[in-house]
Amino acid sequence: MEKLNIKSFNLVIFGGDGDLCKRKILPALYQRYIDGQLNAKFKILCVSRRASGKRFFDDLNSFIIDDENKKKENFSKFINSISLVQIPEPTKESYSALRSIINENPDWQKVFYFSVPSSAYGEICNALKASELIDKKSKIVLEKPLGFDLNSSKQINDIISTCFNEDQIFRIDHYLGKETVQNLMVLRFANHLFEKAWNKENIENIQITVSESLGVESRGGYYDKTGALLDMVQNHLLQLLCLVCMEPPASLNANAVRNEKLKVLQALRLFSKSTISEHVVRGQYTRGTVGETKVNSYLEDIEKYNSETETYVAIKAFIDNWRWKGTPIYLRTGKRMKKRYSDIVINFKEIAHNIFPDSQYPLQNKLVIRLQPEERIELVQLSKIPGPGGYRFKPISLKLDFVDSFDERMPDAYERLLIDVLRGNQTLFMRYDELEAAWNWIESITDNWKENIPLSLYESGTWGPGDQILDEGVQWQTKYI
Ligand code: BG6
Repeated sequence: MEKLNIKSFNLVIFGGDGDLCKRKILPALYQRYIDGQLNAKFKILCVSRRASGKRFFDDLNSFIIDDENKKKENFSKFINSISLVQIPEPTKESYSALRSIINENPDWQKVFYFSVPSSAYGEICNALKASELIDKKSKIVLEKPLGFDLNSSKQINDIISTCFNEDQIFRIDHYLGKETVQNLMVLRFANHLFEKAWNKENIENIQITVSESLGVESRGGYYDKTGALLDMVQNHLLQLLCLVCMEPPASLNANAVRNEKLKVLQALRLFSKSTISEHVVRGQYTRGTVGETKVNSYLEDIEKYNSETETYVAIKAFIDNWRWKGTPIYLRTGKRMKKRYSDIVINFKEIAHNIFPDSQYPLQNKLVIRLQPEERIELVQLSKIPGPGGYRFKPISLKLDFVDSFDERMPDAYERLLIDVLRGNQTLFMRYDELEAAWNWIESITDNWKENIPLSLYESGTWGPGDQILDEGVQWQTKYI
C-alpha cells in the first residue's frame, strides 16, 4: 500500500486519560505506527486534570493489541513518544508546561483533540489562544455530541470559530471511518449496476439499523442526559442515511461530498405535533435476558427510577427531493437489544409484471450492507429450487464477505480518521452546516415528542418496539441476523 507522508506533529489530547483515548485513539495510532504510516517525527501529549502515570501506562499496555513477540519492542518505542501532562484547570499559567513541550518543535503541526464534554471546549480554546498555541496550520478534532440542541451547538461553534477556521476543524463521527461505510461510496459510485436503480421508482424502502446488545455500562451519567436520539441518530444514523441517499458528488473532494450530504439533511421532512406519533417511537429497556445473561432494566442500571430517557428510537423518515420523495427510510437503534449488529437494507420494489403467480415469495431483491459485527454485502435474489414440480422459489444470497475476500486486517475506524486529520483531509468529517441541518431535523423531534409519544418499554434481549411505525406488509429485516 502506498504510504503518503505526513508532516511531523504534536498531537495534544484533552481527556487524555479518558476511556476513548486509552481504548480507541492511542491503540489506533499504535496500529498506524507499527504499519509504518506515522512516518514522521511526532509527540503525543495526553492532557489530564489528575492523572496517575503508572495506571495510565498499565491500562494502555492492556488496550494495545499486537503480536506478542513484537509488542515489547514496538510498544516501548511508541510509548516513548507519549507524555502525560497534568493541567488541573485551563488557564494560561497551567498551560505553560504544555507550551514548553510544543515549542521545542515550533515547526511541527499542532493537532488538538478534544475528547472532553463539549461544555469544556470554550475554555480550552481560550486557554490555547491565550498561550499562543494556535497558528494557521493547527487543527482541532471535536468529538460528539457537539451541544445538546441547535442553539448550544451554535454557541460552541461560535467560540471555536474565533480560534480556528472551518478548514482547521475536524468534527469526528467514527461511523464514517468504518470500512463498510466507505465501501458504500465505492459500491454506489464505482459500480454501474446499482446506481441506475437507486431511486424511488425502484426502491420500496430503506432500513438502517444499529442494534447494540450492551446496556449503558458505566456511562449512565452521560447517557441519561443524552438518550439514543442524540447519542446515535443525530450523528451516526444520519451520516449513514446521507451516504446512502446523497447524489453522486462531482469528486471525492471534501466539500463536494459534504455539499451533497448537506442537501440530503436539508431535504429531510420535519416532524410536527400531528405527524410525530405515526413516525417516531421511543423506548426504554426493562429487565430481560440477552444471550444467556439476565440483565437489569435501564432504571436499575442508572439507579435513577424516574428517568424517561429513551434507550431506543425508531423513525420513519422521508427525504423530500426528486430522487426519494415518498420512499420511507426506516431508522432504528437501541441498547440491550437481542444482538449487536448494524446494517443498511435496500428493499427493491416488486417487479412490475409477475409471470410466476404461484411464488410464495414476492418477486423483489434486497441489498444488505452489513457494517458489523462482520462486514459483508449481500444481494438477495429469488432462485428456482432445482428439480421437477414446477417453479418453486427460494431467496438466496450472493455474498461478498470482506474477511474471506481480502487478506488485509480490517482497521478500526479511528485509524483512518486520525490519519486523515494528520493529512488535512476533511472528506470524512462533518462541516458545520451539516451539523446545523442535522440539529434542525432532530429538533423537530425533540420539540414534539415528549408530550405526543408515550415511552414504550421493551424487554431487554428483544428487537424493541419499532414495529409501530412500519407500513402495512413491511417488516424489519431481522431474519438475516
Ligand atoms: C458511540 C455512542 O458514539 O457509538 C455509544 O456514544 C455507542 O453509545 C457507540 O455504543 C457504538 O459504536 P460502535 O462502533 O460500537 O457501533
